[in-house]
Amino acid sequence: MNTPMDPRRLFDLSGRVALVTGAGRGIGARTAAVLAGRGARVAVNDLSLDRARTVAKSVGDAGDDAIAVTADVTDLASVTSMVQEVVERLGPVDILVNNAGVPASGFAMKEFTATERQDWDPYISINVYGVLNCTHSVVGSMVERGWGRVITIISDSARAGERLMAAYAASKAAAAGFSRALAKEVGRAGVTCNCISLGWVPHDAVDLGSDDVKHALRNYAVKRPGRPDDVAAAAVWLASTEASWVTGQTVPVNGGYVMT
Ligand SMILES: NC(=O)c1ccc[n+]([C@@H]2O[C@H](COP(=O)([O-])OP(=O)(O)OC[C@H]3O[C@@H](n4cnc5c(N)ncnc54)[C@H](O)[C@@H]3O)[C@@H](O)[C@H]2O)c1
Repeated sequence: MNTPMDPRRLFDLSGRVALVTGAGRGIGARTAAVLAGRGARVAVNDLSLDRARTVAKSVGDAGDDAIAVTADVTDLASVTSMVQEVVERLGPVDILVNNAGVPASGFAMKEFTATERQDWDPYISINVYGVLNCTHSVVGSMVERGWGRVITIISDSARAGERLMAAYAASKAAAAGFSRALAKEVGRAGVTCNCISLGWVPHDAVDLGSDDVKHALRNYAVKRPGRPDDVAAAAVWLASTEASWVTGQTVPVNGGYVMT
């Protein structure tokens, strides 16, 4: 018989090792800090080692445990060597947050007919290959050890459809399909794979133009844009032992924009 959970230790991540990609700023930075605050030892990845170091230092200054690691998630060799470093310094990765991604506004916001192959590549490279590379580098060990969490950040634009974001939507929908398929392969080993689907989450590095603010306020049931904390809280839940029966799902953190 299962021991009932202790509500005073709910969502405790002590003893877990987490890797958060693209965590040098924004949503990833906050998610890394909050996972560490719940007790995980966190590897803060970013393409920019300086940014990763700044985040890891502020986590350390708050009394929690984090290291900075760099890798380009689009490059499997770079990811493999980063994961080796994490294993050596912290131990095997229990929780992967696939957060690194190109925001829709990162590249061309154009009608699809006005885009070219070169406009699509960054989305597919980072939002699809990045997720596959990082997941492949850690999930075998999770299966062997009988516990793991793979959490991938996607976007409501992949679920609702948004103008000027077709290639971005394609990349995020691909990541969601990957997550569901993998969930069926690894669930029996105690590894869960879920996505968090976001509405607009402005932060220091991703500004919302006034048109986007109006759009958010018109379409969201909760009349504010998202905050990195909204995302981090969902990640803590999905990363926890208590979420062990939740897999293959997409959890919307979107102010009630898309409701299915
Ligand atoms: N902010 C939003 O409104 C919003 C909405 C929907 C989905 N998302 C998704 O949430 C995630 C985080 O968004 P954000 O707004 O914090 O992004 P951001 O652009 O502010 O930060 C992304 C970080 O990832 C890093 N990065 C980029 N390419 C990388 C690579 N190849 N390897 C390693 N690191 C890399 C960047 O250096 C940056 O620090 C992304 O997947 C994004 O698509 C964001």
